[in-house]
Amino acid sequence: MEAIRIIQDEHRSLAAVLHGMLYLVHQIRDRGARPDFGVLGAMIYYIDAFPERFHHPKEDQYLFRLLRMRHPDAAPLLDRLKSEHRAGAEKIRTLEQALARYQQGGAAEFSNFMAAVEAYAAFHWDHMRAEEKEILPLAEKHLSAGDWEAIDAAFLGHTDPMLGVEVGAKYNALFSRVVNLAPPPIGVGPARPRA
Ligand SMILES: [Fe+2]
Ligand SMILES: [Fe+2]
Repeated sequence: MEAIRIIQDEHRSLAAVLHGMLYLVHQIRDRGARPDFGVLGAMIYYIDAFPERFHHPKEDQYLFRLLRMRHPDAAPLLDRLKSEHRAGAEKIRTLEQALARYQQGGAAEFSNFMAAVEAYAAFHWDHMRAEEKEILPLAEKHLSAGDWEAIDAAFLGHTDPMLGVEVGAKYNALFSRVVNLAPPPIGVGPARPRA
């Protein structure tokens, strides 16, 4: 079940970026750190591109679809998670707009941006937690060996090259870029002077 490991790895990468964003906004709030809009923008770009175009489609089209067939009792939870995949895209737009307003409007717009970051992180953590704590155990219990072959093939990129390792490598590069830009202790970018 390569797919389980891949899903967990992808969740860890996303969680790392969410943690990084929260850390940066809390540094601004608590220590008056100067905002680095380049890093914040790169983080939002990553969390938009990666779950939307790469991670959620594989869950929807393979894992969720097969689990729904094998274990219809999971339907309400699968419906919720699927609708969160759609809602996530809208929430990212809110985050982008809040960042743009903060960048243009300055400190007066900060608390709105921070609230958007906190809301998005909480939303996505809840989502990933439900997948890992509820969906994956149900999948392990109810899916057949043949189902896992199909799911693994999809997650390994053998089914749809757009969801495969090569495209995955592009997101890894994007993740490295975020890490390289971000200051310690999140990343390895230059430390920022306080405002
Ligand atoms: Fe998901
Ligand atoms: Fe997920």
